[in-house]
Amino acid sequence: MDDWLIYRGVGAPDPDRIRRLPPPPPWRSFSGEPLPDPAPPIDSSSTRRLGARVAAPPAQDAETLELINAALYLRRPLLVTGEPGSGKSTLAHSVAYELGLGRVLQWPIVSRTELKDGLYTYDAIGRLQDAQLAERGSGRGSDDIGRYIRLGPLGTALLPAELPRVLLIDELDKSDIDLPNDLLNVVEEGEFALPELERMADRPGQDEVRVLTDDGRRVPVKDGRVRCHAFPFVVMTSNGERDFPAPLLRRCIHLHLDPPRDERLAAMVQAHFGAGSDERNLDLIARFTREDGDGELRPTDQLLNAIYLTQQAIRADAGRREEIAELLIRPLDTRQR
Ligand SMILES: Nc1ncnc2c1ncn2[C@@H]1O[C@H](COP(=O)(O)OP(=O)(O)OP(=O)(O)O)[C@@H](O)[C@H]1O
Ligand SMILES: [Mg+2]
Repeated sequence: MDDWLIYRGVGAPDPDRIRRLPPPPPWRSFSGEPLPDPAPPIDSSSTRRLGARVAAPPAQDAETLELINAALYLRRPLLVTGEPGSGKSTLAHSVAYELGLGRVLQWPIVSRTELKDGLYTYDAIGRLQDAQLAERGSGRGSDDIGRYIRLGPLGTALLPAELPRVLLIDELDKSDIDLPNDLLNVVEEGEFALPELERMADRPGQDEVRVLTDDGRRVPVKDGRVRCHAFPFVVMTSNGERDFPAPLLRRCIHLHLDPPRDERLAAMVQAHFGAGSDERNLDLIARFTREDGDGELRPTDQLLNAIYLTQQAIRADAGRREEIAELLIRPLDTRQR
């Protein structure tokens, strides 16, 4: 019955499954000509979050798996909400790791972030400086405009490719009011223009320019437009500090993550500290879960920190463990006590 699941949350790489993904619905099919360039491999940013021993991954419930897969099938962004530490950002890394989709493109959002930052930057000043140096007979000249154009994480995710890239738009709720609306159009159309290149496109031999990607590779852009082929797997996270406009919500699949408890928590401990580590640390896990009863929030990181410190770093005895757990496992409270 679950045969339709492409991503199954098994925690081991299974890169063949993504090839079983059926073609997109007609309204999410994009016409970019795929580049031969494959995505760079997964990097330490993913293994840091998933733990080096991802063979025993925290189980995801059926609904979570179904929503992740719905987003994959429908080529729609996944909007993930939940408390701090519930595993929202890590989800993008789990999908990239299991489906073999390469390095996760990360776009952390702050209040100053604009759509343009995610798409590309053009270093006009650098180019001018190089032109001046070249005039004086030094430097390498500025004819190659592609050297001064760098695609951002969103721009890179939209490069045409056979397989979707994974893009994490992290903490979208921190953005200014316009960004969610500005994103709409790009998400809907799967393409964007680089006016600096569009202007040159009718000059002979200049219709194709090799620009830099967010990963530091050089790729050709034709006629000043980036047009995707496989729509990227986009994970947008939010701590729910703010509501999003209905037109954006309508275009996303919404997944709410509850903080990990019991088995998921034990599996997370194993993912980071190896098989059997959950049993060795039952006292801390029980403490972490028990203290949860007061309704105050304690993010998973506190448990991981306490285990690391007491077991790996200083090998504390039972009494000391209690003290250190007391010190580290506390409700998240920004007020100073
Ligand atoms: N699937 C997983 N496997 C192993 N560890 C995990 C997994 N998911 C989450 N964790 C651990 O739980 C911690 C919190 O996860 P994460 O940073 O993804 O939460 P978040 O919801 O994005 O939090 P915030 O809102 O604060 O950014 C991380 O330290 C991560 O290592
Ligand atoms: Mg996060």
